[in-house]
Amino acid sequence: MQTNPQANAEDPPIQSGVLKDNQFRVDAVQSGSALLVGDAAVFNVAGSFCATQGKCTHRGGPLNEGKLEGSTVTCPWHGAQFNVCTGAVLRGPATEPVKTYRVTVEGEIGQVEKKTDRDRDER
Ligand code: FES
Repeated sequence: MQTNPQANAEDPPIQSGVLKDNQFRVDAVQSGSALLVGDAAVFNVAGSFCATQGKCTHRGGPLNEGKLEGSTVTCPWHGAQFNVCTGAVLRGPATEPVKTYRVTVEGEIGQVEKKTDRDRDER
């Protein structure tokens, strides 16, 4: 007799070990902090999530490691600042805005939607 352990599973809950590349546990991103999820940086801005591309548009600095104040992140490499919810450049040396992504939350699991806000606007 062949047994398949998954055959009897009824909608198993999402477990932390089986997150997809674009998913994260919401309790891993405290308010005012950031997390790299795939190639996106997810920021917790006072309890709501905003996501941008992970790399600064100046020279590719890791934005998830930058200081987050409100919705403003400061790139740790040369100090460019971006609004993490709109992607706008607030201070140079960067001149190009960062891409932003929508974040959805279901229970304990957040998910970065890889379509950019700009892609959605071009429907
Ligand atoms: S790499 Fe971000 S400011 Fe230079």
